[in-house]
Amino acid sequence: KAFFTPISGGAPPSSTSRPTKISVVGVGNVGMAIAQTILTQDLVDELVLVDANEDKLRGEVLDLQHAAAFLPRTKIKASLDYASTADSDLCIVTAGARQNPGESRLNLLQRNVALFKHIVPPLAKNSPECIIMVVSNPVDVLTYVAWKLSGFPSNRVIGSGTNLDSSRFRFLIADHLDVNAQDVQAYIIGEHGDSSVALWSSISVGGVPILSYLKVQQIAYEKETLENIHKEVVQSAYEVIRLKGYTSWAIGYSVASLARTLLRDQRRIHPVSVLAKGFYDIDGGDVFLSLPAQLGRNGVLGVTNLHLTDEEAQQLRNSAQTILEVQSQLGI
Ligand code: NAI
Ligand code: 2OP
Repeated sequence: KAFFTPISGGAPPSSTSRPTKISVVGVGNVGMAIAQTILTQDLVDELVLVDANEDKLRGEVLDLQHAAAFLPRTKIKASLDYASTADSDLCIVTAGARQNPGESRLNLLQRNVALFKHIVPPLAKNSPECIIMVVSNPVDVLTYVAWKLSGFPSNRVIGSGTNLDSSRFRFLIADHLDVNAQDVQAYIIGEHGDSSVALWSSISVGGVPILSYLKVQQIAYEKETLENIHKEVVQSAYEVIRLKGYTSWAIGYSVASLARTLLRDQRRIHPVSVLAKGFYDIDGGDVFLSLPAQLGRNGVLGVTNLHLTDEEAQQLRNSAQTILEVQSQLGI
């Protein structure tokens, strides 16, 4: 006897829409934080995990599958073989070396470029229509590398960039003003790293521009206080790495929110790493860095034209220059 007795008319309608599929390469701290956030948020029909370490991969996938009774229904697969990623809508790359305490992201470059040569071409070959999201560091330069290695149009190659730094920024401002971080609109742009740029001039809380809000409330503030908040953002990752060895939860939520915007065509604006040449007077070469970009099912739909002060615009160009100098050593 069948375990299930169907009732007439109870068969599921034959679906015309294709199941959605995300592949995550790298099942370390970051890949697994992203995977578990994607699963709990019910973002996708199929999740494929890929890693070079077979035992770790198998262990992680079993551990996730054992949570099936508590999660939305998602097919979870794991493989060493990139054929399993075929026809993904989104491929997220988190594989690679991470920083030791005190080490800069840019230090990881050569090691991670070497890995990307084995990762990006098979991803692109198996999912020629996908969007590639780079998370491995240094994320801006590696997004450029992924763009080159994939041969994809630039709208389909995105780095997670300063979406994370902006969340850290919003958290610190919210804490300072005792408001909800979701009501703080604030961007960090430029490099995801030491030369990032805080856009103080455009910050608002509940629609109120923050600099005038602070004045009206007669909350004492000085340029130094604001600069210290930005310094704290820049130091955030170093501090978490010093304390626990790596960062994971915040990047997990950050990338899951990007995945939702992309796959559900939410057309939200996120500060992410995009091909920046030609925007905000950035020239000098093909450079990926974070700008506030509108994202949807086709990847990057556009870049918003925020008003920057002269100082902010100069800092952004300096950040672009920092990345270009690192990139010039690549020979790609
Ligand atoms: P981890 O060491 O925990 O994991 C790295 C994983 O990559 C390991 O499972 C390893 O087996 C795998 N791997 C190595 N070579 C591979 C290959 N050729 N193919 C497939 N998999 C391979 O490192 P963690 O903490 O997960 O960090 C990963 C990367 O993410 C680092 O580069 C780190 O700096 C970066 N990161 C980026 C953030 C961002 O905001 N963009 C935030 C946090 C970390
Ligand atoms: C982070 O900002 C280390 O890039 C990583 O958490």
